[in-house]
Amino acid sequence: MALVLVLSVLYGAARSDDKAPEPQPIPFSHKVHAAAGLRCAFCHPIEEPGFTAGLPVESKCMVCHTAVKSDSPDILKLAKAAKAGETIPWVRIYRVPDYVWFSHALHAVDAEIECAACHGPVATREVLVQEKPTSMEFCMDCHAAHKASNGCEVCHLRQ
Ligand code: HEC
Ligand code: HEC
Ligand code: HEC
Ligand code: HEC
Ligand code: HEC
Repeated sequence: MALVLVLSVLYGAARSDDKAPEPQPIPFSHKVHAAAGLRCAFCHPIEEPGFTAGLPVESKCMVCHTAVKSDSPDILKLAKAAKAGETIPWVRIYRVPDYVWFSHALHAVDAEIECAACHGPVATREVLVQEKPTSMEFCMDCHAAHKASNGCEVCHLRQ
């Protein structure tokens, strides 16, 4: 009990990873889909200009789900959205404020940093929660370790 209290004070009660995760509109398992042989880039392609990894368009899911589990209530929901061209309102987990400049291409492609360094072992997870911080300290510690720039303007005053 005391330890939990000390930890919650140390890590700050306002951090989103302290909250119970909000359920996703459709329960999606990364573990199941990694086991089906899918690579991260199939659903999260880092395309020019490479700021985001993005969330998958529903039509990509239907490549398999027109056949796989097509009578499951969750897949029927997915199929309906795909047919109507609607977006599943996935609950976002990792987010930096607008005044922070972040690029997936720079990190995951150019610097060849593994997704797991910033998101944990996603491929083994049934349900995703925030496993790594998106705090300034987390960014700066890794930059220091890699001798990457840590001037304020690098992350805050870039076009
Ligand atoms: C390569 C094929 C493939 C693709 C593409 C794919 N899935 Fe799946 N999905 C599977 C397989 C295989 C299962 C496990 C089926 C089983 O349990 O028998 C599964 C299971 C599921 C389930 C659980 C269904 C249930 O009721 O048990 C959901 C929900 C789901 N997928 C959603 C998605 C979403 C959302 C996408 C797109 C972002 C997607 N899938 C893309 C193959 C795929
Ligand atoms: C079949 C498609 C599919 C594959 C393959 C896939 N993802 Fe995802 N990913 C999703 C969907 C759908 C969501 C939104 C639901 C959720 O958060 O579980 C998501 C969410 C995420 C998020 C959280 C995004 C946010 O809201 O901030 C991260 C991080 C992520 N995926 C990383 C990965 C990594 C790393 C891999 C490879 C190991 C991977 N994903 C493979 C479909 C996929
Ligand atoms: C250096 C840390 C870092 C690495 C490496 C990284 N991410 Fe991220 N990721 C983030 C941050 C920070 C955000 C929040 C970005 C924002 O709010 O604009 C994020 C957001 C996401 C999202 C939510 C949608 C989006 O693009 O904003 C997905 C999906 C995701 N990452 C997947 C991946 C995958 C897949 C990889 C590996 C190919 C990866 N990430 C590598 C830090 C990282
Ligand atoms: C796991 C390690 C790691 C984490 C965490 C990380 N970075 Fe980086 N970042 C790097 C590396 C390595 C480079 C590439 C440095 C180079 O090319 O010289 C880089 C480059 C950058 C650059 C370009 C720097 C330049 O000189 O042009 C920006 C901007 C940046 N990161 C922002 C962020 C932000 C914002 C976060 C936190 C949300 C973050 N990074 C988290 C390792 C990391
Ligand atoms: C490697 C990227 C990076 C560098 C370098 C960086 N910051 Fe930040 N900064 C962030 C991120 C990410 C956040 C958002 C943290 C959050 O979401 O709580 C942030 C937040 C802030 C905030 C918002 C207030 C707060 O909650 O702390 C201020 C002010 C700030 N930074 C000032 C600075 C100054 C001054 C410098 C130079 C000494 C600097 N930053 C260097 C990434 C960086």
